[in-house]
Amino acid sequence: MPATTWSRHHILSLADFTTTEYDTVLQTAASFREVLSRRTKKVPTLQGQVVANLFFEPSTRTRSSFEIAAKRLSADTLNFASATSSITKGETILDTAKTYLAMGTDIMVIRHQQAGVPHAIAQEMDRLGVKVSVLNAGDGQHEHPSQGLLDLFTICTLLEPNAPRLELLKGKKIAIVGDILHSRVARSNIWSLTATDAELHLAAPPTLLPKLFAGCGQDRPGKLFIHWNLEPALEDADFVMTLRLQKERMTAHLLPSLREYHHLFGITRSKLQLCKSHVKVLHPGPVNRGVEISSDLMDDPEFSLIQNQVTSGVAVRMALLYLIGSGKIT
Ligand code: NCD
Repeated sequence: MPATTWSRHHILSLADFTTTEYDTVLQTAASFREVLSRRTKKVPTLQGQVVANLFFEPSTRTRSSFEIAAKRLSADTLNFASATSSITKGETILDTAKTYLAMGTDIMVIRHQQAGVPHAIAQEMDRLGVKVSVLNAGDGQHEHPSQGLLDLFTICTLLEPNAPRLELLKGKKIAIVGDILHSRVARSNIWSLTATDAELHLAAPPTLLPKLFAGCGQDRPGKLFIHWNLEPALEDADFVMTLRLQKERMTAHLLPSLREYHHLFGITRSKLQLCKSHVKVLHPGPVNRGVEISSDLMDDPEFSLIQNQVTSGVAVRMALLYLIGSGKIT
């Protein structure tokens, strides 16, 4: 692993991540990607430590990805799903967290439908004076830092497989298209991509992209533009990130119809003709096929990085668990 001076104890948000921290995560993930290509894919790094996945909201890839990442680092894993837990009997979230603490948990990976829950648990752990790290695996519409970092890693490794780093994004044009309003992935991506010298273009109908997003790019190295139509965002883009329409978070009828949305903002092969010829498409999953992206494009390895994102996710999450967990090894 690269020598590091990592000091962050919890990973809750990318808002204040430094260039050095991004580059450390990218380099460390590259080392773990190499480990994952070996015949024996396991390292003893977190032997004896307990990683608890506390998922209060459904998840397929993030939960499984954290679990396999922890196992590859030789940690013991605990998996919690709220539907089958004492939450259904009225236990509070903090009491659930304290129960896992009492079992010797070292790292809590937390997903919750409410923004701020991972922060609240992290604060409580700090107040108790225990050395437990909290990793935000998605909180409401707020942030999803590990997804932002794996998206960054996927893009950077495509540009230079063995030396992924922020400076590779200098001058690149990246479009984020879709349900930005409800997306914690978009918020984390906005922080990571505006930390680079890339141009970031957000595109969505006005109901899913309030003007206040234009303010996110201020005082950051990268430039941020917002568009209420798709074409200017796609023109000459190097990367297009599509987002799921988060129907479960929509409280109002923000769109006339899914058909019209697909017509105007769905990413298809023909719309990609506006982009650079080498353009690549990302999506954090799960995908509404035929809504935010056409089904054929999603499965086309010439354009789609969707499976690469899932694979990158394991190496990036190994890196995050290693960076926050290795300080505890005696
Ligand atoms: C995202 C999430 O849950 O925030 N998915 C993921 O973690 N891979 C995006 C989404 O739900 O649309």
